[in-house]
Amino acid sequence: MKRPVQIQKPEGKLGILLPGMGAVATTFIAGCLLARRNLGRPIGSLTQMGTIRLGKRTDQRTPKINDFVPLAQLDQLVFGGWDLFEDNAYESATNAAVLERHHLELVKDEMSAIKPMPAVFYPEYVKRLHGTHVKTAPTKADMVQLVREDIRRFKKDNDLARAVAVWCGSTEIYFPPTEVHATIESFEKGLLANDTAISNSQIYAWACLLEGVPYANGAPNLSVDFPAAWDLARERQVPISGKDFKTGQTLMKTIIAPGLKARMLGLSGWFSTNILGNRDGEVLDDPDSFKSKEVSKLGVLEYILQPSVYAELYGKIFHKVRIEYYPPRGDAKEGWDNLDIFGWLGYPMQIKIDFLCRDSILAAPIVLDLALFSDLAARAGFGGTQEWLSFYYKSPMTAPDLYPEHDLFIQSMKLKNTLRWMMGEELITHLGSEYYD
Ligand SMILES: NC(=O)c1ccc[n+]([C@@H]2O[C@H](COP(=O)([O-])OP(=O)(O)OC[C@H]3O[C@@H](n4cnc5c(N)ncnc54)[C@H](O)[C@@H]3O)[C@@H](O)[C@H]2O)c1
Repeated sequence: MKRPVQIQKPEGKLGILLPGMGAVATTFIAGCLLARRNLGRPIGSLTQMGTIRLGKRTDQRTPKINDFVPLAQLDQLVFGGWDLFEDNAYESATNAAVLERHHLELVKDEMSAIKPMPAVFYPEYVKRLHGTHVKTAPTKADMVQLVREDIRRFKKDNDLARAVAVWCGSTEIYFPPTEVHATIESFEKGLLANDTAISNSQIYAWACLLEGVPYANGAPNLSVDFPAAWDLARERQVPISGKDFKTGQTLMKTIIAPGLKARMLGLSGWFSTNILGNRDGEVLDDPDSFKSKEVSKLGVLEYILQPSVYAELYGKIFHKVRIEYYPPRGDAKEGWDNLDIFGWLGYPMQIKIDFLCRDSILAAPIVLDLALFSDLAARAGFGGTQEWLSFYYKSPMTAPDLYPEHDLFIQSMKLKNTLRWMMGEELITHLGSEYYD
């Protein structure tokens, strides 16, 4: 099959810009530095560990994804970012206390050299944080300009061919899009007028789009998910994706719920609660920030289980999600789920899950994959919302009026079929009738 798109080769260095250099960002950076020196394995990363089946099952063609599609390699990556705290990446990783000293000491010099640029930080969007390493400017339009200058300087100083951005900043307070977010013109006017509906993350996102830097959003706040940003991303052919890295409890939900539905087992309630004690937990202790998370987490079951189609099985689900800030646990979160399900003749059963996970350990490979796939998308000429990256998100961005696909297995199929399509390989439908003809 002829390739439907031309993909530019991943030549030169790729900058990965991280607005927010806390636990996730520094765990990601340290892991990449360790992996490229063969001092650790990039477990959990599809781009580094995954394979893809091509052709028929009998063809025995299963290359590694990294050998199949032209991705930037770990030794081509350069890391940078912004934060409202001045700590370099080594200090920030030490404070986050996700990785152990024996890992961090191996990359101490490289991590210490990664210093955050001053943040765009209007404090009303993240009420629990107070930092001093921040930019000042008369308007939000000037802020966009300052971020654009940072991006250009970062690219020039590091001799980069390209850059991508992955938002790893704190969760901002919840607010839906307003009129200012409707068009490119209204958004630009809003920037000049310091419109309060324009958040910090939206300022970074706008600057990235104007600089042609693909932008992936790891938090639930809108950031790049509003009509003006969709239009600008399409107009400038810049890939965008979001929202909210799919780790921990939601990952479990999107693994288990499709299984229950496939077997037509009913669900009457799903109660999820977890305790965590990192800075993310502290920010989420603010009800307005939690509201962003809650909206992002609650949608999952509704879309997977389709209560309007399966009213008898899923029409009356009581779904509740809690997050409790509990400092002694640090990043080592514990999540409990109780599922009340029912089977044959309506007999009730229960499933309990106790997931002792590590948030940033689950999120770091997602940052890597999103950065590499967003860069691939840009080199393939894809612009606008990249729905094929839904696999990585709790609350995937889609075209307007299209409901998001949450089922992890459909998302994985969609991602791999997109890669096959890009490379001119046949799509896999799993029909398999040819084996019996
Ligand atoms: N770890 C996970 O499993 C996971 C899953 C889904 C989403 N997330 C999201 O990823 C984000 C990062 O999580 P984390 O655990 O690293 O949190 P963290 O608190 O350790 O790091 C966030 C960093 O962002 C910085 N920040 C906040 N606003 C900023 C701004 N305007 N500009 C620059 N920096 C800013 C903070 O100072 C902090 O250092 C959070 O929004 C979190 O909700 C994490």
